[in-house]
Amino acid sequence: MERVETYNDKVVRQFAIMTVVWGIVGMLVGVIIAAQLLWPALNFDVPWLTYSRLRPLHTNAVIFAFGGSALFAASYYVVQRTCHVRLFSDKLAAFTFWGWQLIIVLAAVTLPLGITTSKEYAELEWPIDVLIAVVWVVYAVVFFGTIAKRRIKHIYVANWFFAAYIITIAVLHIGNSAALPVSLTKSYSAYAGTVDAMVQWWYGHNAVGFFLTAGFLGMMYYFVPKQAGRPVYSYRLSVVHFWSLIAIYMWAGPHHLHYTTLPDWAQTLGMVFSVMLLAPSWGGMINGIMTLSGAWHKLRTDPILKFMIVSLSFYGMSTFEGPMMSIKTVNALSHYTDWTIGHVHSGALGWVAMISVGSMYALIPRLYGRTEMYSTKLIDVHFWTTTIGIVLYVASMWIAGVMQGLMWRATNADGTLTYTFIESLAATYPYYAVRLLGGLLVLGGMFIMAYNVIKTVAGGAARRDVPVMAPAHA
Ligand code: HEM
Ligand code: HEM
Repeated sequence: MERVETYNDKVVRQFAIMTVVWGIVGMLVGVIIAAQLLWPALNFDVPWLTYSRLRPLHTNAVIFAFGGSALFAASYYVVQRTCHVRLFSDKLAAFTFWGWQLIIVLAAVTLPLGITTSKEYAELEWPIDVLIAVVWVVYAVVFFGTIAKRRIKHIYVANWFFAAYIITIAVLHIGNSAALPVSLTKSYSAYAGTVDAMVQWWYGHNAVGFFLTAGFLGMMYYFVPKQAGRPVYSYRLSVVHFWSLIAIYMWAGPHHLHYTTLPDWAQTLGMVFSVMLLAPSWGGMINGIMTLSGAWHKLRTDPILKFMIVSLSFYGMSTFEGPMMSIKTVNALSHYTDWTIGHVHSGALGWVAMISVGSMYALIPRLYGRTEMYSTKLIDVHFWTTTIGIVLYVASMWIAGVMQGLMWRATNADGTLTYTFIESLAATYPYYAVRLLGGLLVLGGMFIMAYNVIKTVAGGAARRDVPVMAPAHA
């Protein structure tokens, strides 16, 4: 008998489950550092628990462990379903899973120990960087290998976004991590001074653009139409969206270095490209939201769709806010304040976490041979705790940030400063309390998700292999 080809869903299941696990870990650390800003004594004078060490642990855990696992899961699932083939290689796919988990564990050990390059979002030392490069190249081989053996000519737009994210992250990571090792745990950047700063923020901004945006747009372009049961609103817009987004993002990095030693023309260039970025970003958001036309009523009953639509709303908000903050005069107010933190979490929690959670709720039952999650009611409870939590987080940081900016620049008639720094800090405390409450709600939602996932997996079918679907047309 001919063996039926099935999809490799094992690796998708592994990454999907780890998305929930790392989501809880990363957000728990987020809650701890939010509490430390309120009660600094919470580090108990233990060096590993100091804010400076836990903060990069939080960012690495949420971006690369939680977000990364969600992206691996989604890209491996989507590329197989849209190309109508099994993944290019099971062994290499398994290597990316175990390699990525090893990297996360190494990060979780080295960062609290204070082993760091001190480059934001690229803190890991060179041996781990080498491992990341290897795993990422293998990821590219698996992904593009699968595209190459596809059974239909057309490459669905979600794969374009995944492809751009995979290629760009390889280039950024390898470029920015170039360093001279002096020991196993210490290296010096290949770049110096202003050039180092520019390379770092070329990396940093494109990490936002390609890791935290393009990859998740790939997720959006597959799971939103699936969940809504409607085709993408405009395929043409999705293509325009893709090319304009990737062409413009690359140039926006200097907006992180306004009023620094970076040449003025470079700062202005970064600002102009950032403002232009509003157009493709909103093109993508509109395309996602309008995919629901004719299916709006589903929002009443389907909390997964609610996750997706609210995530797109946050995407729209943060990509309106970002271009505004990149304008130099606005940045003069926002930089160094909690406004940036509000912006970050409107993008990272509102957009990235919500689209990931929504997509995982859509994906997990299918991976375990069920039609839906164990409890739709609990998804709804999760939706509301998360949404309220994010609004509390983001709104409190917006208010705190603008307040800080205004207090720092206030002067008296004789030119002296109206407020001391400590006065602005004291005024921020109530907002830190509100942020902590918001974070607790978001974290609580993740525990509800974990329970729902455990019950779904436990009640799943024993036979989970899904045969590869024959393409309707080649
Ligand atoms: C329960 C949820 C979360 C809480 C309570 C939380 C809390 C925090 C806190 C307290 C900081 C430090 C702010 C400061 O230095 O003033 C921070 C930074 C950061 N968080 Fe979160 N976070 C959460 C979820 C997330 C998620 C899901 C992501 C990404 C997917 C994320 C990405 C970041 C980033 C990128 C920074 C650094 C921002 C910067 O340097 O400007 N966070 N977070
Ligand atoms: C059109 C899109 C966007 C533009 C033009 C933009 C622009 C900006 C600007 C001007 C800053 C402040 C830089 C500073 O003063 O230091 C910033 C910070 C940041 N943005 Fe955005 N943003 C955009 C979208 C997003 C999205 C969607 C996310 C997350 C998913 C995000 C994540 C971040 C992070 C993590 C930082 C903090 C970087 C750091 O200092 O550590 N941004 N962005």
